[in-house]
Amino acid sequence: MSGYGDGTRAVRAGLPGEEQGTPFLPGPVFAAPFHLLGDVDSSPFSYNRYGNPTWARYEAALGELEEADVVLFPSGMAAATALLLTNLSPGDALAIDHGCYHGVRAVAETYLEPRGVELRQVPPAELAGAAEGARVLWMESPSNPELEVYDLEALARGAHAITVVDNTTAGPLNQRPLDLGADYVLTSATKHLSGHADLMLGYVATRYAEAAGALRDWRTRTGSIPGPFETWLAHRSLATYALRLERASANALALAELLAGRDDVSGVRYPGLPGDPGHDVARRQMRGYGTVIAFDLGDRGRAERFLTSSELIADATSFGGLQTTAERRARWGGDNVGEGFIRLSAGCEDAADLLADTERALTA
Ligand SMILES: Cc1ncc(COP(=O)(O)O)c(C=O)c1O
Repeated sequence: MSGYGDGTRAVRAGLPGEEQGTPFLPGPVFAAPFHLLGDVDSSPFSYNRYGNPTWARYEAALGELEEADVVLFPSGMAAATALLLTNLSPGDALAIDHGCYHGVRAVAETYLEPRGVELRQVPPAELAGAAEGARVLWMESPSNPELEVYDLEALARGAHAITVVDNTTAGPLNQRPLDLGADYVLTSATKHLSGHADLMLGYVATRYAEAAGALRDWRTRTGSIPGPFETWLAHRSLATYALRLERASANALALAELLAGRDDVSGVRYPGLPGDPGHDVARRQMRGYGTVIAFDLGDRGRAERFLTSSELIADATSFGGLQTTAERRARWGGDNVGEGFIRLSAGCEDAADLLADTERALTA
């Protein structure tokens, strides 16, 4: 499907050719063993831990969007862990953005550091220096939840390290880290790609066939495999990805403008706001600014009042779903944010309703 626009590619990605009497998207294939007559390599499918046709079809679809080889995992964290564990050994150093997703930092701190991997957690401005002599450079822009934006291409092309971009906040239609020189892109498909707040998946994309093979081996050996039903649901949802993203991103911009215009809200971050510190870099390296906004309501009490006063904004973690959600991020610990910090994910409701509801909840 090359040469077509994002919406066209998302609608059709990974669908088989037209064949009389067959469905557009064949249903999920459930199997533990498959019939296997003869040698193990006489069939592409033998035992489900080794491969499944429903995964293969969704991987091909994502591969069309990323223009890369894609390996699917049961969650974003499973994908991140596969990348960390297959690329780092005792004695290696990992240079990692200190504001990246806390779950990734926790895996590095809990399972890598005690096994002799040196962890260099630094702010974005120090990543280039930290990457010197490191085996892996781990970046995340825009970062979750603070929405820091920085120049991925300068870092990826400048580093003599294996470069990874966690692209979960942006997603493949809004940012293409492999085109910016990264070796791997990691995305939690739990968010925008599936978009219905009803499943977890994650994937790694790379343009190096050998690297993709190593990740597939990891998946087979460790059993970190996705479920066929979740995979099929995610593929079904891919057709509306561009449509959902367009609507939710327009809502995000409208909400960010509303929030930035109020003097009782501080620290509004949205890469699409012209006044955002990351806007100039985002304009260069992103194709759209996404659905996630961050802002500060000063203290825990006001943030909680905002969340309980709103009718349309569900108090829930995660982002990228059809329904607008928000949470007081400090309730988890693990992020360097204040007690009143809120991360909001704009959904696909009518903009006028969302804006009115947000104003009402802020005033309450
Ligand atoms: C930036 C980022 N990376 C990775 C993950 C992990 O993905 P999952 O929750 O699908 O394991 C998340 C989840 O919120 C995330 O926001």
